[in-house]
Amino acid sequence: MQSISGKTISIRDDKKILLVSRPSEIKRIKPEFVRKYINALVKEYTYISTKKIQSLKDIIEKRNNNLELVKENRAILIYALHKNQVVGKILAIRHHGNFDHVVSFEMSVAKEFRRKRLGFTLINECIRLIKKKFIGVNTVEINVYANNKIGLKVYDKYGFLEIAKVPNSFQWQPPGRILEYKDKIILRYYL
Ligand SMILES: CC(C)(COP(=O)(O)OP(=O)(O)OC[C@H]1O[C@@H](n2cnc3c(N)ncnc32)[C@H](O)[C@@H]1OP(=O)(O)O)[C@@H](O)C(=O)NCCC(=O)NCCS
Repeated sequence: MQSISGKTISIRDDKKILLVSRPSEIKRIKPEFVRKYINALVKEYTYISTKKIQSLKDIIEKRNNNLELVKENRAILIYALHKNQVVGKILAIRHHGNFDHVVSFEMSVAKEFRRKRLGFTLINECIRLIKKKFIGVNTVEINVYANNKIGLKVYDKYGFLEIAKVPNSFQWQPPGRILEYKDKIILRYYL
């Protein structure tokens, strides 16, 4: 079978990463590999919005919904692959109507690939595609859990600015702990 095509880049430790953003190529990434990646993050109880272990059906449904948005030019989806395994992902969605100058994104990197500049690379590539595809967008926004110290550091280093703090915004319940509600911080990067 022909290999998946995309943009090859190097991150720290000289690891070669394939960035895949074309819908036809994203469809060729094995859903099992996406599930393995997402479920490792769910088990880690890190700062992503998904909280339940994903079935293959969940993964395929979400992928198809996201690809629909990409085809309608309302979203950008990029997977980072290393030796065919998923090691990072970024999803940026353009807001509607009077808010359509704003794009929100969410991002994650596999634990073993963190601190190698893959996060920054995904943001750079996403912003490059936003500028190319979304005419009229001037604001990139992200919601961060206020207790996600590393996430906040990464976005601060990149140049995002803190805009607002929204109290009791996210549910936070690591295994064996009682449910708490945590604040979220809204950060912005102006293009
Ligand atoms: C946030 C996340 C995506 C960052 O990805 P990453 O690939 O590790 O980030 P990078 O390697 O590109 O980091 C860029 C810079 O941010 C800062 N940074 C990153 N991780 C850091 C850490 N653990 N401690 C201190 N600074 C850190 C550093 O300045 C780093 O540059 P440097 O290594 O040259 O000093 C990753 O930590 C992750 O997936 N976390 C779990 C999910 C999550 O929190 N997602 C974000 C939700 S808002």
